[in-house]
Amino acid sequence: MSDTPPAPQGELVIRTIAMPANTNSNGDMFGGWMVSQMDLGGAILARNVAKSRITTVAIDAMEFHQPVYVGDIVSCHASLLKVGRTSMRIAIEAWAQRHKGGEHVRVTQGTFTYVAIDDNGRPQPVKRSCAPSP
Ligand SMILES: CC(C)(COP(=O)(O)OP(=O)(O)OC[C@H]1O[C@@H](n2cnc3c(N)ncnc32)[C@H](O)[C@@H]1OP(=O)(O)O)[C@@H](O)C(=O)NCCC(=O)NCCS
Repeated sequence: MSDTPPAPQGELVIRTIAMPANTNSNGDMFGGWMVSQMDLGGAILARNVAKSRITTVAIDAMEFHQPVYVGDIVSCHASLLKVGRTSMRIAIEAWAQRHKGGEHVRVTQGTFTYVAIDDNGRPQPVKRSCAPSP
């Protein structure tokens, strides 16, 4: 478990309420649900950067710091770390505002890599609009 930093890093991309349908056998939120929220949040930033379809190619350095409880308000914050030729690396933090007490805690973080793709699902350059004119 790591200490919660003073404030989230990055753009707010997702905000939702943790619901009982997504719990694990302990009655807390299922880790896969958290990863899917983070993936969706990162995809919003990646799509805005690439201005095209994107897909997730890799998830690294996932850390689950604290459990998420039913009723917590979950928010995902995304920061663009690197733009490659077709890929974008995005750091995502998820924070929970506790249903009981209202405290804000960083619950998970990870680095997601997205690839800009064309209509056939093939990688295409992210910076298409920056290509030199003929
Ligand atoms: C993403 C996908 C289109 C990439 O196709 P590909 O033929 O492997 O493409 P490339 O090898 O040219 O790699 C494309 C970019 O992704 C990066 N990349 C590929 N695998 C990677 C990995 N494991 N980790 C980080 N980056 C990776 C490459 O470095 C490259 O980046 P760059 O162009 O900025 O240098 C293809 O692998 C795919 O469709 N995967 C399934 C995606 C999917 O369904 N995601 C949802 C999960 S359920």
